[in-house]
Amino acid sequence: MKKIIVTGGAGFIGGNFVHYVLNARKDWRVICLDALTYAGNTETLADVWKNPNFRFVKGDITDVSAVSKLFEEESPDYVVNFAAESHVDRSIENPSVFLTTNIIGTQVLMDACRKYGTERFHQVSTDEVYGDLPLERPDLMFTEQTPLHTSSPYSASKASADLLVLAYHRTFGLNVSISRCSNNYGPYHFPEKLIPRHIPRFLYS
Ligand SMILES: NC(=O)c1ccc[n+]([C@@H]2O[C@H](COP(=O)([O-])OP(=O)(O)OC[C@H]3O[C@@H](n4cnc5c(N)ncnc54)[C@H](O)[C@@H]3O)[C@@H](O)[C@H]2O)c1
Repeated sequence: MKKIIVTGGAGFIGGNFVHYVLNARKDWRVICLDALTYAGNTETLADVWKNPNFRFVKGDITDVSAVSKLFEEESPDYVVNFAAESHVDRSIENPSVFLTTNIIGTQVLMDACRKYGTERFHQVSTDEVYGDLPLERPDLMFTEQTPLHTSSPYSASKASADLLVLAYHRTFGLNVSISRCSNNYGPYHFPEKLIPRHIPRFLYS
């Protein structure tokens, strides 16, 4: 049985991923590690709560001893790191927690992967590490070769984590991957984000 730790699984995308894995890989054990910040919501996981292949652990990815304990108990094959402070406007008001969670948290998880021989670490990043494209140039697009050009403490913290992930691969040989998706929308989206915030306004104004 493969074991996967999904951090931030009580959040929007991580929650969808937990559902996806439990459906697509019936013989996998999914362990969700989430600190349940303002953005976390266990209701997101109500459907899977009693699934015997699912375990929820409330914990902070920056907490070295909690992370170590979990890795010791579970010996995960894979780790997918969704846990993050993810709201750009909040990062402008208070950058500190963004640097701690998004950078140090990633380091703590990768150190645990090294120590416990995890097969692969996947970092969920963002296209915001590339900055903005000019509105008047719809022909332009980001590619993996586009230079990093961050524009907020949020995107800078995610780009920093990405560089750290690549450094862990080069320095320690950790098997890593990074995805940099654009804005997502869908079930379990937190209402502070653009689409779920504005749809009710259009509907009820
Ligand atoms: N939402 C998007 O459109 C989008 C786009 C590109 C990239 N991303 C990235 O995808 C990932 C998930 O985004 P989201 O929108 O689902 O985020 P979210 O804010 O909905 O969820 C984040 C989750 O992480 C948890 N968390 C926060 N700090 C933690 C900590 N220190 N330890 C453990 N858990 C912690 C929260 O409790 C929450 O459940 C993030 O890494 C984000 O940078 C999101």
